[in-house]
Amino acid sequence: MATQVRVVLHLLLLYIFAVQEGRPVCVDVDPETEAVKGEFMKMKCVYCMKREEISTRTMVKWYYIGPDKREVLIYEYHDEPREPQNVEDYWKGRLVWNGSKDMQDISIGILNVTLNDTGTYKCKASRHYKYTFFTSTGTKNITINLKVKEKGK
Ligand SMILES: *[C@@H]1O[C@H](CO)[C@@H](O)[C@H](O)[C@H]1NC(C)=O
Ligand SMILES: *[C@@H]1O[C@H](CO)[C@@H](O)[C@H](O)[C@H]1NC(C)=O
Ligand SMILES: *[C@@H]1O[C@H](CO)[C@@H](O)[C@H](O)[C@H]1NC(C)=O
Ligand SMILES: *[C@@H]1O[C@H](CO)[C@@H](O)[C@H](O)[C@H]1NC(C)=O
Repeated sequence: MATQVRVVLHLLLLYIFAVQEGRPVCVDVDPETEAVKGEFMKMKCVYCMKREEISTRTMVKWYYIGPDKREVLIYEYHDEPREPQNVEDYWKGRLVWNGSKDMQDISIGILNVTLNDTGTYKCKASRHYKYTFFTSTGTKNITINLKVKEKGK
């Protein structure tokens, strides 16, 4: 009896380790919200996948919420990362894709933060999953209230 229990425990441990090694660990941490003027700022957005989920496509849109509450599209990932057409001059060339290949990290970066970048940002993602016998979709939204401070303060 005791041997059987030990065998079961052993198999369970093997299983746990096998599962953990399958994919890079994805940790859904809260994004940093304090940026420093003149520096690079990673605007973190994480959308973890469960072990059984295989994503066929992830689409991401990043918005800046202006003082007038307007959601302005500032960056997108649609088959590849890109600056949206007709993006406001203010954002042109200032944002870069900062996500991972497996699309669990779907962050962008602000190259040279200005005090005027203070404000609210939204990361909105949608994903199509493929399972063995069916597909499904999911969404994830995160909001970052960014505060920019002067260096050394
Ligand atoms: C994010 O951008 C920084 C600065 O350009 C770079 O050092 C880093 O490797 C980037 N990370 C990813 C995941 O692209
Ligand atoms: C960063 O932005 C400031 C003001 O917008 C500009 O004066 C400075 O030249 C920029 N620095 C770099 C490295 O682009
Ligand atoms: C401040 O940022 C907004 C976009 O967030 C932009 O439309 C505006 O022109 C910027 N103002 C200055 C003075 O750069
Ligand atoms: C994210 O926002 C969209 C609308 O912008 C909404 O349809 C969706 O349900 C939201 N997803 C979650 C997980 O809240």
